Amino acid sequence: MNNAFVDLTSFDNSLSLFLKKTKVNCDSILFSAIEYALNGGGKRVRPSLMLLTAAVLDVPQSIVIPYALAIECIHTYSLIHDDLPAMDNDDFRRGRPTVHKVFGEAIAILAGDALLNSAYEILLEQILENTNQNLIEASFSLAKAAGVFGMVGGQASELVFSSANEQFDKNAEKNLFEIYAKKTGALIIESISIPCILASIPPIHFQTFRSIGRSLGLVFQLTDDIIDTISGVDDGELTIVNYIGIDSAKNLVKEKQSEIIQSFSNLPYQTISLSKYINTLCDRTI
Ligand code: FPP
Ligand code: MG
Repeated sequence: MNNAFVDLTSFDNSLSLFLKKTKVNCDSILFSAIEYALNGGGKRVRPSLMLLTAAVLDVPQSIVIPYALAIECIHTYSLIHDDLPAMDNDDFRRGRPTVHKVFGEAIAILAGDALLNSAYEILLEQILENTNQNLIEASFSLAKAAGVFGMVGGQASELVFSSANEQFDKNAEKNLFEIYAKKTGALIIESISIPCILASIPPIHFQTFRSIGRSLGLVFQLTDDIIDTISGVDDGELTIVNYIGIDSAKNLVKEKQSEIIQSFSNLPYQTISLSKYINTLCDRTI
């Protein structure tokens, strides 16, 4: 699957190879659940961001692709678990029944577990072949972003926040921004940060890339919420959109988009394809 800005052929090939290897010795229902989730029409946003950033920084595709695959495995596991009855209890994702609806809850939990484990197997396999310090640092960075300091921590805070039925006050607003930064932002930031770590770019530019990732992470979750609100998929969750209102949320997206454009102008790299792709994410309506 390609989009107009990035050629995902090598990514798709390594995903197919990964599935082929996984199929060997894997229980057939577990494998079918993994395949159903990984090939379920996801937009491949994180791999696309990673490959585009790698191209900006001249990081070879062969080095970055294991990270792109690992982050898509982590993202996919998080969606499977997020849809479970114990979490958001969703029956549909990407227009299809969710993994637990097709394969049952136990297999869905295990498919998520397997994908998370696979992510680190993929990264460690590359490190075994090449014990380069940057590869280790990039893997550690991804592990932290996916765990309690990032996505898992954000998801837990959201559950606690929702069950506490927070009032619409300033504190709730601040908490929600922190939750978004972790549950969605952490992996988006990481998609851009990993090529920076692999390329050992100067810290000042690394910080600029990370701030682009932070703004994009917020835009991405806000846009998801705006789309849900407009299409009537509002399941009563306390989102930033139903806190500040749809017009303010749209303005915030525009504000963050301008910040991103400004940040790109401070970078001494050829970033046109990456910035165009990020603009399409900011303008997303579906
Ligand atoms: C949609 O991404 C997903 C998000 C905006 C992230 C939401 C955060 C979670 C589900 C965290 C869950 C965490 C745990 C630990 C269960 P996308 O639009 O890129 O999805 P796509 O792959 O379908 O295109
Ligand atoms: Mg959720």
